[in-house]
Amino acid sequence: MRIDVFTLVPHAFAWLTEQQPIAGVLGGELELRLFNYRDTTPLRAGQVDDTPYGGGAGMVLRVDVVAAALDAAYGGAPAHRIVAMTPQGRPLTQAVVEELAQEEALTLLSARFEGFDERVVQHLASDAISIGPYVLSNGDLPAMVLLDAIARRLPGALAEGSGELESFSEELGGGLEYPHYTRPPEFRGWTVPEVLLSGDHARIEAWRRERIR
Ligand SMILES: C[S@@+](CC[C@H](N)C(=O)[O-])C[C@H]1O[C@@H](n2cnc3c(N)ncnc32)[C@H](O)[C@@H]1O
Repeated sequence: MRIDVFTLVPHAFAWLTEQQPIAGVLGGELELRLFNYRDTTPLRAGQVDDTPYGGGAGMVLRVDVVAAALDAAYGGAPAHRIVAMTPQGRPLTQAVVEELAQEEALTLLSARFEGFDERVVQHLASDAISIGPYVLSNGDLPAMVLLDAIARRLPGALAEGSGELESFSEELGGGLEYPHYTRPPEFRGWTVPEVLLSGDHARIEAWRRERIR
């Protein structure tokens, strides 16, 4: 899968690319390309934003700037999905992650300031996603959240089987995973449920199933 991210701060993604599971699939199942709107802006002095029509605070990411960046990368509208990261988008859920992880190529558009000129979302993007009902300063963290969630679903990203029985998965009926414990079996008087130490796999399985929320 190839994911292209359009941003004003490509270097912000450096940390993410060093982390698992992304580091493990980069160059293999995942190709990640980062584009800076400033590199292709048709405006002078690297300008990418402008004041909002109708007045008000903040600056708006210009539609011609985003279009120029996409044209430079793809030479026209690409066949694959272009996702605008925006609080007004459809909510990101595990089902949306599974859907996007099936794509062969994906473009993520990140904005800053007051956000995109609405024509970006209406005409240049084919999808819009919000990572939650709160406002962040830019779309880079939302793009990274989506990238990480997708990377986990790519072949070879996780150890065999560890990505299947997770919170929100189909296997758990979309529910939350059961609690985990590891050594020591007792710490400050806090004990591990006896059943988990019993070695009785049927009882352990039943105990876990009961705790899926
Ligand atoms: C400061 S926000 C703009 C907020 C916008 N003025 C509003 O009130 O909805 C700047 C950019 O950060 C990104 N962003 C912020 N919160 C987000 C969220 N919850 N989901 C996805 N993207 C978000 C978007 O790219 C957005 O255009």
